[in-house]
Amino acid sequence: MRRVENIADMQRLADTWRAGGERIAFVPTMGFLHEGHLDLLRTARKMGTKSVISIFVNPTQFAPTEDFESYPRDLGGDLDLATEVGTDAAFIPPVDEMYPEGFQTYVHVDRVTENLCGRSRPIFFRGVATVVCKLFHAVKPHISIFGQKDFQQLVTIKRMVKDMNMDIEIVGHPIVREKDGLAMSSRNTYLTQEQRPVALRLNRCLKEAQKLVDSGERNAEMILKAAGDLLTTGGGATVDYARLCNPDTIEDVEVISGPTLLALAVWVGKTRLIDNCLLKAIKN
Ligand code: PAJ
Repeated sequence: MRRVENIADMQRLADTWRAGGERIAFVPTMGFLHEGHLDLLRTARKMGTKSVISIFVNPTQFAPTEDFESYPRDLGGDLDLATEVGTDAAFIPPVDEMYPEGFQTYVHVDRVTENLCGRSRPIFFRGVATVVCKLFHAVKPHISIFGQKDFQQLVTIKRMVKDMNMDIEIVGHPIVREKDGLAMSSRNTYLTQEQRPVALRLNRCLKEAQKLVDSGERNAEMILKAAGDLLTTGGGATVDYARLCNPDTIEDVEVISGPTLLALAVWVGKTRLIDNCLLKAIKN
């Protein structure tokens, strides 16, 4: 696997591949790779003829109060794992390569970033859209793969690509879970043994909500009340949000009539976990 640290070299490599008729499939990450990331990379390998990962902990998507400094990092381990799954290149720019002195241009995606994580992390999506736009210009992919675990991020990137006429196919990848149902996340390493059962409530809550919908419940308030109870009973968890949204617009819905996103963000101690599912309302 090639390692590329600067933008001009990455662009040259992409140009050479493109001139040779290769199809570049790209997975942006912040590293500390787990099986979820690796599954995205395997999909990239299948969908393209050249696959690229970026590993870059992006400072502009972290608020000053958040965990940028302490975000888990293991570049050596990540490069081994990416090599094992057959990735062709790793783009690993230093921070000052991506944000040199004088940097002052940001990408703002409007309405789909307002709800959910946009409420509790006001600068987050500006940072994500900006870095992904820059990474796209460096890697020049034909296809880019994003996890549905970060559902609002996926919708935001799709919106940016459409609105800015970027000629890139954005592919959503299903959530990869641990055996016990916990959605994989680099931040799961923060959880203590005692916190893990608390963290499992998120996935249980998604399943219980689907059961309620299956039994005929359509009222968002009722479903969210049950979700809130399930997440907090037993203590150890603080709900940041639990919301039911239209999966295209990310606007709240009051009555479930079609596929509806149930999105959760929960603090378990100092760790903020997110999870989601699409609730299906089958007419009964
Ligand atoms: P990161 O959290 O490292 O995630 C990289 C990609 O892996 C994202 O598309 C994310 O949705 C996906 N992913 C993470 N855990 C997953 C899981 N359990 N199942 C499926 N996919 C999963 O998301 C980011 O980095 C950053 O915001 C980034 C897009 C790289 C911009 O900095």
